[in-house]
Formats: sequence, structure tokens, C-alpha cells
Amino acid sequence: MNAPREHWSGGLGFTLAAVGSAVGLGNMWRFSYMAAENGGGAFVVLYVVMTLLIGLPVMLAEFTLGRGAARSPIEAIGHYGGSRWKPLGVLFVVTGFTILGYYSVIAGWAVRYAVEGLAFGFPADAGAHFGEISEGWDTVAWHLGFMAITVFVVSGGVRAGIERAAILLMPALGAMIIGLAIYANSLEGAGAGYAYYFQTDFIQILDFDVARDAAGQAFFSLSLGMGTMLTYASYLSREHDLPQEAGLIAISDFGIAVVAGLVIFPLLFALGLETQIMGGETGTLGALFVVLPKAFSSMGAAGPFVGGAFMVALSVAAVTSAMSLLEVVVATAVDGLGWSRPKAAIVSGAAIALLGIPAALDIGILELMDSVGGALFLLVGGFFLALFVGWRVPDPIAEVGGTRRAGLGLWRFLLRWVVPSVLLLMSYFQGQASLELIRKLAG
Ligand code: TRP
Repeated sequence: MNAPREHWSGGLGFTLAAVGSAVGLGNMWRFSYMAAENGGGAFVVLYVVMTLLIGLPVMLAEFTLGRGAARSPIEAIGHYGGSRWKPLGVLFVVTGFTILGYYSVIAGWAVRYAVEGLAFGFPADAGAHFGEISEGWDTVAWHLGFMAITVFVVSGGVRAGIERAAILLMPALGAMIIGLAIYANSLEGAGAGYAYYFQTDFIQILDFDVARDAAGQAFFSLSLGMGTMLTYASYLSREHDLPQEAGLIAISDFGIAVVAGLVIFPLLFALGLETQIMGGETGTLGALFVVLPKAFSSMGAAGPFVGGAFMVALSVAAVTSAMSLLEVVVATAVDGLGWSRPKAAIVSGAAIALLGIPAALDIGILELMDSVGGALFLLVGGFFLALFVGWRVPDPIAEVGGTRRAGLGLWRFLLRWVVPSVLLLMSYFQGQASLELIRKLAG
């Protein structure tokens, strides 16, 4: 009754789409901001540790389930674990709704900055400007516009929509970011920016808050914990080397995050704006959206071009990530409800767009959705996923296939013991942080 399942066209299609999912708003500003706030080098070290220890094992687990079952998350989990485990797939879909709802609002800011910056330049009074564009019915309109683009690409299908967009956009994105980093390097004062970025307060390695942020960031940035990588892998054919794909994706994701910092910090220091990224009243989410435009506006003639290029890169990174978030929900509706892909994309896209409206009207709600959906749910989802693949799936090592049996023994050990322990602890701390946000919002 259903059309046969689509597949990536082979070659780099899957890899670029998965890198496109991983590289997003998370790399371009969340990473630099967190590094700046959490002791620079200490955060980066913990981030790498978290990526190796829990990120890569969970990514491989998602790949294995997805490719093995060749279904969307709920069905894939049911395939290996029976209906008792299906609620985990439901959590994934709920997380997809929550993240894409607010992610699209932030992406809408980026698109608006790109369009208006290229057309009119960046306003000098960036703080007041951000206040105007970050909340309200205008913000809703840009959010809806961004969702419409995402729906359009995803309804085109795996190969003609998602893969084609990734093949077109990802190399351009890489070139833009590297070009911007080279430009930033030529600015006077860039050195102070690098020094700040890589300054290291190693005592913070022992800080649980820093570890929690590093774990949350690793999961968010690698698109883990809600079945995104599972869904993308469900369109994969047998011959791919899954551990190698996982490694390639993690390295690209980390590389782009580091290079984005090499754009941001020299820029801020060269223009004397460095003090404004920390502890500003705009908080985590707004900081770079205020300070960077300020930098672009004080750059003179180059401002609209450099700023425009940065905001275009940010928008491109956001759209290839948003596609992957939507795909989880769309694949679920196509497999589970038997809907056509365009119908699934339009209906779920509209529902998610609706859910995002409160976030577009109130930045406090946006921050809460990020804390709960973008961190807590991912960590909890990753915890159960690790237990599921570690203990419930009969022979995950055989499912991975290939020749790397020895390393895969370690993988299973990590999934059984290390990943769940770390994620349980991190979920607890993240739960506390989310509760605090709720109290703040209510009080
Ligand atoms: N990884 C993307 C970023 O860094 C966002 C993203 C896409 C995501 N798909 C995801 C995050 C799935 C968590 C789960 O911006």
C-alpha cells in the first residue's frame, strides 16, 4: 500500500545531510557563548570528552536502529523492543515538536537580520533593535516564513528535497564560515579575541554545571537524543560504514563550531565589544544577536557584507538543521498514519509553527522550551536509548556489521554502563536548571 522507502542517492548524500543536521544554530553561537561563559578551554575539553564518551556511542546506536529497522523512530523501536518501548519513540516526536517550535523562531531572527542587513545595513542601536525584532507579531511572521521554507524542502522528499538542499548548501556554508574567519583574522585586535577564546580556567573542569552544559551542548549540536540521526539512517543502504560516518559527522560538527568562534571572538575584540557578551540582560539566547550586529554596524562600509554573509551562513545552517527536525515528525506520520509526504509535511509543519508562536511572542517561553526540549528531553531520551540498544536489542554489534568488532565491544560496554550513568546524572542537573527557569517564569 505504501510507496517503497526512499534512499539517499549514495556517495556523500547521507553524510552531507547528517552534517547539515548537526551544524546549525548550536554551532554558530551556542557553542561560542558556552565556551566563553564556562572557562574557555575547560569547556572545550569537557565538550570533546562528552562527544567521545557519550555522543559517538549514542550516534552509532541511533544509526544502528534506524538502518536496521528502516522505519521511523516509534516503529523502529517497536521493531526491536516491542510495544513496551514505544513511548520512547513518542518522547522523540514530542521533543522534535518542542525544539523545532522555538528553533524556527531563532532562525527567523537570523533570516530577518540577513535580509534587512543586506538591504539597509545594521542599525547602530542593536540592543533596542533586537528588543523589537525578538518578540511580537512581526517575529511570528518571520517564524512562519522560515517554517514554510522548511516544509517546502521536506515535502520534496529525501533525495529531491533534503539531500539536494544539503549538497547545495553545506559546501557553501563551509566556504562562507572559513572566509569570514580569514577576514576576522585580518582585523587589528584579533589576537586578543583568540586569547580570550582559548584562555583556560582548568579548575572548571571539576564543575558539574560546566559538565552539564558540555553534555547538553554535545547532544544538541550532534542532533542526538530524539531520533533525528535514527531517521536519517533509516534511508541508508547496507554498505555504509556506520562508525566511520559517525566519526566524520562529529569531526565536521566540532570543526565548524570552533571556526565559528574564530569568526566571533576576533570580531568582538577588534571592535571593543567583548565586555558585552557576558552577563548582559539579554541572557544566553540574545547575547550574540545583539553584540554581533553591533559589531557589523560599527565596521563601516564592510559591515553589511560581512554581517550579511554571517547572517546568511547562520540561516543556511539553521534550515538544514530544521529539515532534520521536521523529518522525524514527517517520517512518523508517513510510516505510522500512512499519509503522503506532502500532507505529512504540511500538517506537522503547521502544528509545529503553531506551537512556536508563544516562543515568538515571549522570549522567556523560548528559553524554557530550549531548556526543556533542547536539553532535558534530549538527555533523558539518550539515557533510555542507550539502555535500549545496550540491553534490549538482541545483537547490536552484528547490526553494525563491518570489520571493527573489537571497538564495538567497547561501544556496547559504554552503552550499557557509562552512557546511562553519565546521562542520568546530567538529566538530574538539567532538570534542576529547567525547574529553576520555570520558577523564574512563574514568579
Ligand atoms: N544540531 C542542530 C544545531 O546544532 C540542531 C538540531 C537539529 C537538533 N536536529 C536536532 C538538536 C535534533 C537536537 C536534536 O543547531
